[in-house]
Amino acid sequence: RTDAGTDYYELVQRPAEAEILPGLRTPIWGYDGQFPGPTIRARSGRRTVVRVTNRLAAPTVTHLHGGHTPPESDGYPTDLVQPGTQRDYVFPLQQRAATLWYHDHRMDYTGPQVWRGLAGFFLVVDDEQDRLPLPSGERDVPLLICDRSFHTDGTMPYPVRDDGPGARMAFMGGVLGDVILVNGAPWPQLGVDRARYRLRLLNASNARVYELALSPGGTLTQVASDGGLLAAPRPLQQVRLAPGERADVIVDFAAYRVGDHVELRNLLEEGPQAQVMRFTVERDARDDSAIPPTLSRVERLDPAQATVTRDFEFNSGDLHGETGWLINGKPFDARRVDARPKLGQVEIWRVTSDVAHPVHLHLAPFQVLSIGGERPSGPAEWKDTVELREAQTVEIITRFTGYRGRYVMHCHNLEHEDMAMMSTFEVV
Ligand code: C2O
Ligand code: CU
Ligand code: CU
Repeated sequence: RTDAGTDYYELVQRPAEAEILPGLRTPIWGYDGQFPGPTIRARSGRRTVVRVTNRLAAPTVTHLHGGHTPPESDGYPTDLVQPGTQRDYVFPLQQRAATLWYHDHRMDYTGPQVWRGLAGFFLVVDDEQDRLPLPSGERDVPLLICDRSFHTDGTMPYPVRDDGPGARMAFMGGVLGDVILVNGAPWPQLGVDRARYRLRLLNASNARVYELALSPGGTLTQVASDGGLLAAPRPLQQVRLAPGERADVIVDFAAYRVGDHVELRNLLEEGPQAQVMRFTVERDARDDSAIPPTLSRVERLDPAQATVTRDFEFNSGDLHGETGWLINGKPFDARRVDARPKLGQVEIWRVTSDVAHPVHLHLAPFQVLSIGGERPSGPAEWKDTVELREAQTVEIITRFTGYRGRYVMHCHNLEHEDMAMMSTFEVV
């Protein structure tokens, strides 16, 4: 529904059953009973209201990942929508086009609630992207990639909670599934024309990292990242995505012959878990798309503008007598604010790890200044999630704009997040 400058969407969270594995019924929790939830396409600058009704038996929180959102609609982890109630999330979308996603963000329960199905795409479109000749329409394909495990009866049990502290310890690294799903289907097949396609790759897994490549070979030309268009295309042979990260890539299927099968594989695995999805090249077709050599003007934030540098250590440590995941030695506590950046201020955040952690910042898109001491090469880009590898330091630079209030930074390994690796900052 649309009226005077506002677009309205409704999502009803409810239990449902899905046929994910052939012939079996899998109970899920879905936005509109679907896993993944419906894809929302919203226009930059249009006030967009998403009414979420909770018909589940548990409280939920919905967060728009990558959204430049006022604090009261950002899905702070304790800002619960109780069963039987509803909530209007208001997104002004004062932000450029990008591949965003919405997902559950309830404190201590994000891992299980996303695992059961509470996640979907939210694509922000704008005139700048519409003017580019990139593949669009049927040839613009969002791919939500995640891993799940199933019992033989088709259920998709989340293995951690309620199983006691010992069971939790076994998942310190996060919960991995042994079946890779794309848009909720195992090893799906897509018939394609001999033409360019834009694949919007999202790693929506709780904990799994992917290094995606085409087999038998082929170029994935990245045109957009978490925060929208890159300054220029980046041709890649493989795309690495930690949980929460997105990459929009162009694949030109005209490089193959009609009848060819092209696989998207995860190079970090072998056997069935390496198999993500496959494409069958079905026919010759007209293709008016192109990849322009310049995509967008992307401002590079200058470290000289930064007025504050903050340090955050992502480490394991004591969480109520068990081992948990902490930031600067502290578990998440909604009553504590760990940083108070000023509105409009540019800051450098230096993040250090023990083991690997995908670090995600709400509200403020950032640029990576250095990763393991090195300046990243390639075109300028905006990110909202960056993979911190084992024993590494990453420096990001960001400007806090738009809204004052409380937001979180956290590890996007969802089990790490639930084991308290999250910190509140307040824009003042
Ligand atoms: Cu995608 Cu705070 O999360
Ligand atoms: Cu987010
Ligand atoms: Cu982590």
